[in-house]
Amino acid sequence: MLYAEITGWGKCLPPAVLSNADLTTFMDTTDEWITSRTGIEERRICHCNFSDMAIVSARRALAAANLDPAELDLILLGSLTMDSLCPNTASIIQDAIGAKNAASIDINSACTGFLYGLHIGTNLIRTGAHKKILVLGGEFISHYMNWAQRDVAVLFGDACGAVVIEATEERIGLLAAKIGCEADAKYAIQITNLGSAYSRLSEEFLYINWNFEGQEVFKRAVKCMARACEDVLHQLDLTTADIDLVVPHQANKRILDALARRVGIEEDKVFINVHKYGNTSAGTIPVALTEALEEGRVKPGDYILSATFGAGLSWGACIIKWGDRVTPLATTDAELPPCDKTALEILQPHIARYLAHEAKTG
Ligand code: ACO
Repeated sequence: MLYAEITGWGKCLPPAVLSNADLTTFMDTTDEWITSRTGIEERRICHCNFSDMAIVSARRALAAANLDPAELDLILLGSLTMDSLCPNTASIIQDAIGAKNAASIDINSACTGFLYGLHIGTNLIRTGAHKKILVLGGEFISHYMNWAQRDVAVLFGDACGAVVIEATEERIGLLAAKIGCEADAKYAIQITNLGSAYSRLSEEFLYINWNFEGQEVFKRAVKCMARACEDVLHQLDLTTADIDLVVPHQANKRILDALARRVGIEEDKVFINVHKYGNTSAGTIPVALTEALEEGRVKPGDYILSATFGAGLSWGACIIKWGDRVTPLATTDAELPPCDKTALEILQPHIARYLAHEAKTG
């Protein structure tokens, strides 16, 4: 029987930090509102392309696995903020890292893109179709932000993470997953004016606008993630007492607290970094998993529960049984290009554009 061990992991956070105090300089909000509603204190803003973050996290994951990129036979990239639609962004990463024997696929299921990719990749390995796969999740969501929408703009940040999965006969890696989508709520998170459903003749075409029903998303997120967690526990005949660590999608601290209560998991088992990075959408789980490993929170043989939700409304959960190795085999000096601007300096022309548009249209 084949399984898919996670042999490498890496993350990339752009250096420019946008604090809650920075947000108050151009929008009607407060640090108290943001932290009490979401737990978010700051987030990162990307100064380069999304693929630059993805390439750095890929190189770090490959180094941790000590794997020659030419051995990869597939790249799965979860994101909704790709560099481009054509070529697909996974192919940009493939070329940059020298994975010349891989196929490359972009996955857009919003925040759930990494867990969806890990599920797909693991099952391609378990059927014997593929042997070594790079799975990435990340987002350059500040590129798609409408800075005049305070209810959305305070929530998100930029980041990317990656793992390498490789075939093994040992019963480790992702052992159970449940994914789904409450498509009746597809418009509860929506980016409008972008895509072929929107008239190219409209003046608003390409002017990013978010429809965002925060409370509806909150309720559905807790319900769907809790059900998915119960499903994967049931699949493996485990209880929450068997789970050593929870590495969930980091959208909002209150959602994570509600999920832990509903599933019946002690809060100290839940890994949380949303206060530092905000919601990085498809990036949250691989970044949190890498950080948990770096902080020594993952022990050999641990059962790790993960749960996620995002636009669609897509949702999912999985259980990973960790192998023996919790340290990287090697490291790399891969870094982003230098950044000589503050987050506010990077964003300034974009903030000005959205505020001017709002002033004109009311
Ligand atoms: N600063 C100050 N006030 C604000 C802000 C802000 N940044 N944003 C909204 N408000 C105001 C609202 O206008 C409203 O004012 P009103 O009562 O006068 O109308 C008030 O604050 C309360 O708004 P609520 O929506 O009731 O606030 P709530 O407590 O529900 O928190 C939040 C909002 C944080 C968005 C919450 O609902 C949430 O986290 N939902 C989940 C969203 C999410 O995480 N989505 C992730 C998926 S995204 C993806 O997949 C790409």
